[in-house]
Amino acid sequence: MDLKQLHAIVEGGPHGSFAAHLFDAVIGVAILIAIADAIVMTDPEWAGAYGGWSQLIELIAVGVFTVEYCLRVCVAVYDHRARYRHSLWGRLKYMASPMAIVDLAAILPIFVALFLPLSTDEVLLLRCVRLFKLLRYFSAFDTLAIVIRNERAPLMAAMTLMGILLMMIATIAHILEKNAQPETFGSVPRALWWGIVTLTTVGYGDVVPVTPLGRLFGGLAVVLGMGMFALPAGILATGFAEEMRRRNFTASWNMVARVPLFERLPAFQIAEIVDLLEPLTVERGETIIHEGDTPDGMYFLVDGQVRVLLASAPIRLDPGTFFGEMGLIEQAPRSATVIAQRFCQLLWLQRAHFDALMAQHEDLKSTIEAVVRDRRARQRPPGGGA
Ligand code: CMP
Repeated sequence: MDLKQLHAIVEGGPHGSFAAHLFDAVIGVAILIAIADAIVMTDPEWAGAYGGWSQLIELIAVGVFTVEYCLRVCVAVYDHRARYRHSLWGRLKYMASPMAIVDLAAILPIFVALFLPLSTDEVLLLRCVRLFKLLRYFSAFDTLAIVIRNERAPLMAAMTLMGILLMMIATIAHILEKNAQPETFGSVPRALWWGIVTLTTVGYGDVVPVTPLGRLFGGLAVVLGMGMFALPAGILATGFAEEMRRRNFTASWNMVARVPLFERLPAFQIAEIVDLLEPLTVERGETIIHEGDTPDGMYFLVDGQVRVLLASAPIRLDPGTFFGEMGLIEQAPRSATVIAQRFCQLLWLQRAHFDALMAQHEDLKSTIEAVVRDRRARQRPPGGGA
């Protein structure tokens, strides 16, 4: 088995083969058992009774996670992101990525304990970092990270406003209450505790204003808090819903009928093609096609923008166009690298379906062949021979 096949297993994810699912399942179960063990062993009674088993579990878990970590670093060069392609720098960059750091942290407790005397609390904390390994199994987490990035400007504005409000409220409460309750409102930093508990409408009730003016102001602060502290949640919820809508698009009849290549086909044939196309989303900057790779399918650009890196000059492709057809038609390696310029919605037609479609529709085949001839001509440097 070569590294590329290994990559398909290790990083196959939800669309991977049976082996990829098995790999994910083994790691997933190992994470859950290791975490359950770490949690249960915080109980002195359990620790006393099953301490030996716990050590064995920890040893096996670290073994599994170490093999997993080494495999992920080895195969990182086959990631679709161009930045990991270099055999040395690519792997080092991968090792510095957030998920690789979490993977490393998951095996650290035992290795660190070999050199440094760690307290049980420190070991427990390190073992609990393994919880973050579960994030790999939820693609929605990536979406959340993207939402936070997309909405960072309004989120920062809301946070700054909250900070200003908190400082103002703590200062005014200090002025109004300092004589009556010097212990809790004697300074602005002391009044901050009341401010945060009030603005977030948690209201522990351990510190409350007692003067009439202080109480009046406290009521106002609660009302303000309800409005202001709900803002980030609102921003995130809307951003999340919008991002999910963009990602979970499905190939629809309308979408395919709007692709210029298919627009002249009768309705029932379009409906057949809809079933063959797989919706796909690609982040800005991701490499969709690598020059020299063996073609496995072609892409229709529904939304977004891609850039074809040609030796002469890069070419931009807009929605409605297709790419990745040359390798399939000419049965040759990919002739250029194609990168997403923006977040893209694509429809993917895998090679077997492409071949079947071309055999069925002579007219489609000749249209694509004409495009291939035209693109091939434009790939040649000006003044270059045939
Ligand atoms: P393929 O060779 O399979 O992979 C790279 C793709 O880039 C290629 O198919 C075309 O779809 C696309 N491509 C190559 N040259 C051009 C061009 N001159 N204009 C537009 N697209 C191109």
